[in-house]
Amino acid sequence: MKRAGIAIVVLGVAAGSVAFLKLSAGGFSARGKPTAVEAFIARTARRIAVSGEVRSLRNPVPDTAETLADARAHWADHCAGCHANNGSGETEMGRSLYPPAPDMRRTETQDLSDGELFFVIENGVRLTGMPGWGNGSKKSVEDSWKLVRFIRHLPKVSEQEEREMQKMNPRTPAELQEELDEEKFLKGDDANVQEQHSHTHH
Ligand code: HEC
Repeated sequence: MKRAGIAIVVLGVAAGSVAFLKLSAGGFSARGKPTAVEAFIARTARRIAVSGEVRSLRNPVPDTAETLADARAHWADHCAGCHANNGSGETEMGRSLYPPAPDMRRTETQDLSDGELFFVIENGVRLTGMPGWGNGSKKSVEDSWKLVRFIRHLPKVSEQEEREMQKMNPRTPAELQEELDEEKFLKGDDANVQEQHSHTHH
């Protein structure tokens, strides 16, 4: 019994030292990639934080074209700034965060349960750039579940969908005006730009 205890302490200290050495080797800069050890510690910590009950939650919103359309608009507006329209995380902001926004099309994300994805969207991830979006309202809960559907869809996002989302990505007013002018010019003057997007999260 006592031996096991000592072994655990020794292992813990060893793992801690490795993590520390890795950290100090990379400095504490937010640039660069987290080491495998850091990623493992972060994932394990999150797994412990999400209760079994939450992890096994079922997505209550139906998997329909309408759900995806809602979530796509929402994603383009609130998430793509860091995660990119296709979920790759290849955005200026997503790459400069530490840890960076992951490529959510990959198994590391897709293997998370619906409940875990939902939990992350509602609560964010502590000590990272991932904000929590939930405010406990029925609407926010529903929106988050829709986003879970969309995250499942990320590996299959089409070019057509990406183009649609590009129109919904937030821009500075100056950029927006420039784009509108360009579109008018390309389509001939009577083009009515109706893609005006008025989506809010809460
Ligand atoms: C300010 C940047 C930022 C915004 C905006 C943002 N995220 Fe994130 N998100 C992150 C970062 C950084 C991570 C990685 C955190 C980590 O490593 O644990 C992340 C992780 C996640 C994860 C977990 C993925 C995984 O494999 O661990 C989910 C799910 C997620 N975000 C969904 C969303 C949704 C949905 C939105 C929009 C409502 C959103 N995020 C908006 C930065 C952002």
